Amino acid sequence: MNRSSNSGPSVQVTTDSGTSLDAFARDVDRGLSAAQKHIPCVYFYDYPGSQIFERICRLPEYYLTKAETEILQANSGEICSSLPENVLLVELGSGSCFKTQVIIAELLKHQAHVAYSPIDISKQMLEESSNSLQERFDSLEVVPVVAEYTEGLHQLRTRPEQAKLILWLGSSIGNLTHAEATRFLEKIVKVLSAQDQFLIGFDLQKDRRTLEEAYNDSQGVTAEFNRNLLSRINRELGGKFDLSRFEHSAVYNEEHSRIEMYLISTCEQEAYIARLDRAYRFHKDERIHTENSTKYALDAIQDMADQAGLQICRQWFDSRRYFSLTLFYIAEY
Ligand code: AVJ
Repeated sequence: MNRSSNSGPSVQVTTDSGTSLDAFARDVDRGLSAAQKHIPCVYFYDYPGSQIFERICRLPEYYLTKAETEILQANSGEICSSLPENVLLVELGSGSCFKTQVIIAELLKHQAHVAYSPIDISKQMLEESSNSLQERFDSLEVVPVVAEYTEGLHQLRTRPEQAKLILWLGSSIGNLTHAEATRFLEKIVKVLSAQDQFLIGFDLQKDRRTLEEAYNDSQGVTAEFNRNLLSRINRELGGKFDLSRFEHSAVYNEEHSRIEMYLISTCEQEAYIARLDRAYRFHKDERIHTENSTKYALDAIQDMADQAGLQICRQWFDSRRYFSLTLFYIAEY
């Protein structure tokens, strides 16, 4: 049953700048025409994909969510202790908002009212999570925005007088290369003011086995997540991909310290996409690159902060030191 059609609290999604079909078609055509075939990982997160991702977060092998939740639960008091009063909470890629509840509950201990602006690319996911937050927290004002990160930046320009805490959890930053991440942080710094703070989750470097198991789970949920890219092409662009002819693969690339995900063609084949009126050829063992997930050394975090003009305020770890939450503020010169 669709909650938003109930008579209970219903949060309306204000701006809908969600990804357009044309952009999807264009990116798929570009990616599958390149020498190294690829599909941008932003397309993982339609509603079905977002739901598969929630199942990933509950997998025993996927330590990231557990480690980050452990850090949040143990340190939410401290994380929120240096914030100015009446802070506006903004979250990039909010998903189910499960972890954010820890921060919201903590803020509501000190503020009578909290405004929270989750930014996500799945409209349905945003509606669901906004409504359930609204049900749980009476004095929470939820202002959801359907957008990609870059468009979501505009949201940060609103209410310039109000101090902000920006959350970017889950190590989603790891999808970007070092250069891309630095550039994106720089852009964010430009729209922030001295009173704002920025909390980012970073997955840390660790042994290859733990990493590869987290992205090759025994129940095959990550494989399903990866293949959803092809199902989405079939659903939305009239694609004719045979999902059983693509294998999921996730390997740790030590040189770039990142997990790389691929879909590997198990045979010589062709897939037609009606919307593009084109067929794409795959030879046996040819790989479509679908995601990078960077694993950080503490130096790398420091380095990005230095380049982007951010100063590390504090850093927390889980008990196994698998993951870090780092709180930044704008560096002063
Ligand atoms: C949401 C990008 C942080 O890289 O771990 C999980 C996505 N991909 N399993 C990650 C993902 C495969 C996830 N991030």
